[in-house]
Amino acid sequence: MQEQEVDKFYGRRKGRPLRKQKTECLKGLAQYQIQLPLDLSTIFPKSQEIWLEIGFGGGEHLAALAEKNPKIGFIGAEAFINGVASFLHYRAEKNLTNVRLFPDDVRLLLQQLPDNSIRKIFILFPDPWPKKKHHKRRIVNPKVVHELGRVLKKGGEIRLASDVPNYIEHMKHVFQLVPEFQLHFSDNEKPHDWPATRYEMKAIEAKQRPHYLIYQK
Ligand SMILES: C[S@@+](CC[C@H](N)C(=O)[O-])C[C@H]1O[C@@H](n2cnc3c(N)ncnc32)[C@H](O)[C@@H]1O
Repeated sequence: MQEQEVDKFYGRRKGRPLRKQKTECLKGLAQYQIQLPLDLSTIFPKSQEIWLEIGFGGGEHLAALAEKNPKIGFIGAEAFINGVASFLHYRAEKNLTNVRLFPDDVRLLLQQLPDNSIRKIFILFPDPWPKKKHHKRRIVNPKVVHELGRVLKKGGEIRLASDVPNYIEHMKHVFQLVPEFQLHFSDNEKPHDWPATRYEMKAIEAKQRPHYLIYQK
């Protein structure tokens, strides 16, 4: 298959040098890493339900969900290597065996995921790119949301959150462009089964009010 061109990635790949413990965790990445070209059948049994978290950051939410749902197969996509190392630390601590990682730009993975293959998708507190001229860098954009509409199973859901009111409006606008999706939930209080993320906790400490959305296909 010819690899399609993917738009440029604008985020960070590396941050502060990792502490020894996290460097050690990163040595185990190859074992959990999803390689391209993608063959989902070699990663999860055909009957297993798959959930995908895009931009999992430090991995708190991914680790909490994977621990609570041991029968689900999880894919975590995160381009920032320090975040990947942080998740691998939780993975080892909680002995999670049901998560595979894509440590790169998620758009490369999305274009190879089969139609109707994912049951739930999470995009939580994505990079806000606040300047208007940078809005096109937002991960929630028509091209990506169209792709999410393709890979999500019928009846599946996408959970989104942000503490930037203008990004919530942007998300609603973009999702309206894809007819497969219906807005199911929009509130400042999230459902009880929704674990916290690091950015969410920071936002709440800074007295920002996050907003939560659920779309269904
Ligand atoms: C603002 S952080 C939020 C992290 C986490 N979801 C949270 O709420 O704490 C956004 C994350 O998305 C990741 N990210 C942005 N674009 C991405 C892409 N195209 N593919 C994979 N990860 C991406 C960034 O590296 C960053 O860690």
